[in-house]
Amino acid sequence: MADAASMAASRSPAIPDSASMAASQAPPGVALLAVEGLQAWYGESHILHGVDFEVRRGEVVTLLGRNGAGKTTTMKSVMGMVGKRRGSVRFEGVETIALSSDRIARRGMAICPEERGIFASLTVLENLLLPPVVREGGFSVERIYALFPNLKERQASQGTKLSGGEQQMLAIGRILRTGASLLLLDEPTEGLAPVIVQQIGATIGKLKESGLTILLVEQNFRFAQSVADRHYVMENGRVIDMIANSDLEANMERIHEYLGV
Ligand SMILES: Nc1ncnc2c1ncn2[C@@H]1O[C@H](COP(=O)(O)OP(=O)(O)OP(=O)(O)O)[C@@H](O)[C@H]1O
Ligand SMILES: [Mg+2]
Repeated sequence: MADAASMAASRSPAIPDSASMAASQAPPGVALLAVEGLQAWYGESHILHGVDFEVRRGEVVTLLGRNGAGKTTTMKSVMGMVGKRRGSVRFEGVETIALSSDRIARRGMAICPEERGIFASLTVLENLLLPPVVREGGFSVERIYALFPNLKERQASQGTKLSGGEQQMLAIGRILRTGASLLLLDEPTEGLAPVIVQQIGATIGKLKESGLTILLVEQNFRFAQSVADRHYVMENGRVIDMIANSDLEANMERIHEYLGV
């Protein structure tokens, strides 16, 4: 179930990276993540044509847009998980465009992919322990269980035995252990029952309170509104608009036009 690319970063040992230590105290006002003119290709297919956005420390920011707009590709490109990327992706003020995906992960970014990447043959606990800790400040297993009590009850269950909601919680819990300060969550609510969606929303709120920064791809527009500070709208491999969450309600017509809903 897990795809090799998404786990590639996780298998490398937790080698402290002196540059990342020095950069971990980026001055206030500098975006935690600053993406400028990001282009990406899958083989010969040119998918991103110059994506610009930024995420400040402690924010929850969404990427909205129709199917195929390039939201997932943007997340993968930020993590260095596409064949070729150009432009600028600065994390804590440091340029990462030339780094491999495992070095990027070690700087403190982690992705929770849409397909969740749970290993079917491993138990919940084994899945949790899989990605190595890359920085200090990661969640302990007990802290992850406190956030997702269902996972504690199911800790000896195999990945295949989990419900969709439990798999999503496991996929999020797993990256919290690494110590990443920026979490990239690709459609965490997809296919889940409303009560589970609510639970994921509450969790995102708690993670934000604990100081984490989150970039979120969402199709569930009302969910996005309930958790985010700002929204970027993507179309055809570009960011075409930015809307503060507080302005969202007043711009509903514009949003509906963008998303075709
Ligand atoms: N592995 C791939 N190889 C070639 N083209 C791809 C690949 N993955 C995605 N694409 C193409 O890249 C474009 C952007 O896809 P992407 O998955 O980033 O969109 P998205 O905004 O996440 O869409 P969705 O809402 O459906 O998840 C689409 O035209 C898609 O067909
Ligand atoms: Mg996608």
